[in-house]
Amino acid sequence: MLKGTFPIDKMKALETPFYYYDVNLLQKTLDVVKAEAGKYDYHIHYAVKANANPRVLSIIAANGLGADCVSGGEVQASLDAGFPAGKIVFAGVGKADWEINLGLDNDIFCFNVESVAELRIINELAALKGKVAQVALRVNPEVDAHTHAKITTGLKENKFGINLSQLNGVITELLAMQHVKLIGLHFHIGSQITDMSSFQDLAICANEIQEDLATLGVHLDNINFGGGLGIDYYHPNHLPIPSFDNYFAVIHKLLKVRPGQQIHFEPGRSIVGQCGNMISKVLYVKEGETKNFAILDAGFTELIRPAMYDSYHRMENITSEEEFEVYDVVGPICESSDVFGKDVELNKARRGDLIAFRSAGAYGEVMASQYNCRRLPKAYFSDQL
Ligand code: LLP
Repeated sequence: MLKGTFPIDKMKALETPFYYYDVNLLQKTLDVVKAEAGKYDYHIHYAVKANANPRVLSIIAANGLGADCVSGGEVQASLDAGFPAGKIVFAGVGKADWEINLGLDNDIFCFNVESVAELRIINELAALKGKVAQVALRVNPEVDAHTHAKITTGLKENKFGINLSQLNGVITELLAMQHVKLIGLHFHIGSQITDMSSFQDLAICANEIQEDLATLGVHLDNINFGGGLGIDYYHPNHLPIPSFDNYFAVIHKLLKVRPGQQIHFEPGRSIVGQCGNMISKVLYVKEGETKNFAILDAGFTELIRPAMYDSYHRMENITSEEEFEVYDVVGPICESSDVFGKDVELNKARRGDLIAFRSAGAYGEVMASQYNCRRLPKAYFSDQL
């Protein structure tokens, strides 16, 4: 079985668990996303929530992308990493006053507004500063993303966005406000989407909404399709770069772009997912009655996706070429959900072996916690080891 390539001797000297980022792959992925988006003049705002490691952010900022943020902390981290405020968009259903003020003080490109209640507060806070905030309305398009329920966002029952039936009312109220300016619509239907028909439905829905709004005399300068493009967790070695060409082509083919209109995307996982790996060590191999357990020094505190979303991450014993054996791979946390995978085939595992969790660059390090008073994992980069 083909494994990833890692600087194993150097890794053996490091304290585990840790994250390891392949900066060449990150750069290659950025080159592809820029080239493919460039074909249609699409604007890319990297979704900071996927990975906010300062070095990752600064590499992405240096490539000229914008940032998509969901908290004041992310807005600040983006500014610190060198993203220009004029390319920062700020979404989220519960923006606190200080977070809105931070956006206003820095003149960010756009607030993606999720409710009329929020809109009123942005208008009030902008008035206090004598500013006009640029806003896009996040619309809940009722498009099924066909992905895990916990990462589906575009359905009526989800807390996100403004429902279609209420959109006209919100726009009417917005147009009467003095300190907000409507510059566009924003959508985001979910994450880890591999079925392109969901994006087709989204483009068609955007067309219909725009036609509807045009009859009211409302024309929008910007349409933002959010993020969501999935990655191949099963074949990280064969398919390290997602099909951005296909993704943008689907939207380009169906979307009716109005004159002068700018189209935006907020990819997170598809940019950073495959360049990151979580490296952990086998502490013990426990031979149970019916199965063997590989007990690692990493748990859901370092990588929560399997416990939280039943996600699959490919696991490789990168320090062994011995015959494959089957293990339940588990962590040290005192909870029964601290299981990375059942009946996982690994090259025979012994104490001290290094296990790589592939495709862990997105929603990995950034979701780490200190539960059980554990230390946060460190991060290393391929050009520094
Ligand atoms: N834009 C908005 C408004 C979002 O809410 C998200 C992700 C993105 C963009 C980026 O989506 P992406 O391109 O990464 O799919 N922790 C979960 C994923 C949560 C996604 C939340 N929103 C996981 O580990 O699978």
